Amino acid sequence: MKIAIIGTGYVGLATGACLAEVGHQVICIDNDEPKIKRLRYGKIPIYEPGLEEVVHRNVSAHRLSFSTSVEEGVDTAEVIFIAVPTPPQTDGGVDLTYIERVAREIAYVLKGYRVIVDKSTVPVKTGEKVADTIRRYNRTGADFDVVSNPEFLREGCAVSDLMKPDRIVIGCDSERALAAMKEVYAPFTAPIIVTDINSAELIKHAANSFLALKISYINAVSAICEATGADIQKVAEGIGADKRIGRSFLSAGLGYGGSCFPKDVAAFISISEEIGEPFALLKEVQRINQSQRTRFLRKLRDTLWVLKEKRIAVWGLTFKADTDDVRNSVAVDLVNDLIREGAQVTAYDPKGNEKVRELNLCPGLRLADSALIAVQDAEALVVATEWPDFAAIDFAEVYRRMHTAIVFDGRNLLDADAIRNLGFQFYSIGRPQPKANGNGYSGLVSPIKFATSSKNAGEKLRQEVSRESR
Ligand code: UDX
Repeated sequence: MKIAIIGTGYVGLATGACLAEVGHQVICIDNDEPKIKRLRYGKIPIYEPGLEEVVHRNVSAHRLSFSTSVEEGVDTAEVIFIAVPTPPQTDGGVDLTYIERVAREIAYVLKGYRVIVDKSTVPVKTGEKVADTIRRYNRTGADFDVVSNPEFLREGCAVSDLMKPDRIVIGCDSERALAAMKEVYAPFTAPIIVTDINSAELIKHAANSFLALKISYINAVSAICEATGADIQKVAEGIGADKRIGRSFLSAGLGYGGSCFPKDVAAFISISEEIGEPFALLKEVQRINQSQRTRFLRKLRDTLWVLKEKRIAVWGLTFKADTDDVRNSVAVDLVNDLIREGAQVTAYDPKGNEKVRELNLCPGLRLADSALIAVQDAEALVVATEWPDFAAIDFAEVYRRMHTAIVFDGRNLLDADAIRNLGFQFYSIGRPQPKANGNGYSGLVSPIKFATSSKNAGEKLRQEVSRESR
C-alpha cells in the first residue's frame, strides 16, 4: 500500500520506517530541508534503539523514501498520515498551528479520494476541524475521509511498540476509510479498536493522563511510606500483584517528565475546562509530580545542610532511560534547582550530555565523560534517571573517589543494602532508613566518611572532568 507521512519527527519517522518494514511503500515528508537531506544520506536525527537499522534496511529495499514535497506525497499515497508537532501553549492548551497548516497544504493539492489520518496527539474534536479546513481550502471538490489513529509508542522502545502494539485505535466515520486503515494494519497482529473520531482522540489523552495518575498515585504513597517507615517497593509489589492494577507504572521516583505526560495532562485539563467539565483530579496529579522533587531536595538539605558550594554529582539527565531526550526532564530541573542553591554540580548521562550542552539547559553545570569521573571528590551523589547502567557501576570505586560517601537515589534503582554495606549513607524514595546504630546512618548526626584517594590522584581526576556546559 502507498503511504505518506507528513512530519518526520520522532513519531513520523518511527511510524514511517515500521510501516515500510511490514511491506508498505512509504514516503516521509518534512519541510525541514537539511533534515530530509541528512535522512537521504542515512543520518538519523534522533537516538532510538533499532530505528537506524530499520530505516537503512527499508531505504535499501526502496520501500522508504524522503521528500520535502507535500504534493508528491498526496499525489502518490492512498493514505496520508499527519505526524507534526502539537506543542503546549503557556496556558496548558495545545498549539494546533502545524496541524492546521498541513491540513491546508493537503487541501491545496488534493485531487482524488484520500484517507487523511491524524497521528499527532490532538484535543478531542480536532478531526472535525481538519475535515472542515480541507473542505474549505480544496478547490477541486475532491472526496476524502479524516481518521484519528493515535500513537502510543514510548521513547526508547518505539520500534518494538510499533511492531508489536498492545492495540490499534482507529477512529473513523466511513466504511471506505476503515477498509483502507485495516489494510494498513493487516500485517500486525494487535487487536483493532474501532471508534468514532472523537473517542479515538480522547483515548490518547485519557490513556496518558491515566498513566501519569498511576505514577503520581504511587509517588503520593511513597511520601506516606517515608513518614511511617513502610517500604514503597513492597507496597507497590503488593498493590501491583492485583491483576486489575498491575505492577507497571508503579515505580516511585522523582516524578514523570518527557515530551508527552506533562504536555498531555496539561492539555486534558485545559480541554476539560474549556468544555465546562474541569478535571480537578489531574491538577492533583500535577501537584504530586512537582512535590516529589521538592521533597527530594528537602531530603538533600536535611542531610547535607547547606547546599551552597557543595560538590554534588548527578547521574542521569534524560527524562528516562534508553533515550537521549532531555525535554521536560525532572533530572534537568533538579540540576537547575541545585545550581540555583549554589551547589557545584557535575553530571553524567550515557546519552544526554550532548543535548544538555547543545541546548544550554543547565548553565553552570559541569559535564563529565563518565559516571566515575562525575563522582570524583563529590560530597554527594544523586541518581536522577533510571539508567540500568548506573546499578552496574563498581560502588567500591565510587566510594574511593567520593569525598563524603552519601548517595541519594531518586529512582530507587540501586540495591540499598549492598550500597550501605560498602559504608555509604544511602537515601531513596519511600524506603525506610536504618537506625543510626544499624548498618547505615540517618540525618545530620551521621558520621561522614572521607575518601582515601591521595590529593594528587584527586587533582588528576578532577582534570578529567570535562568541559562546562556554558
Ligand atoms: C509515554 C507513554 O508511555 C506512551 O504510550 C505515549 O504515547 C507517549 O508518552 P514516553 O514519554 O516515552 O511514553 O515515556 P514513559 O516510558 O511512559 O515514561 C514517562 C515518564 O514517567 C518518565 O519520566 C519515567 O521516568 C516516568 N515513570 C514511568 C515513573 O516515574 N514511574 C514509572 O513507574 C514509569
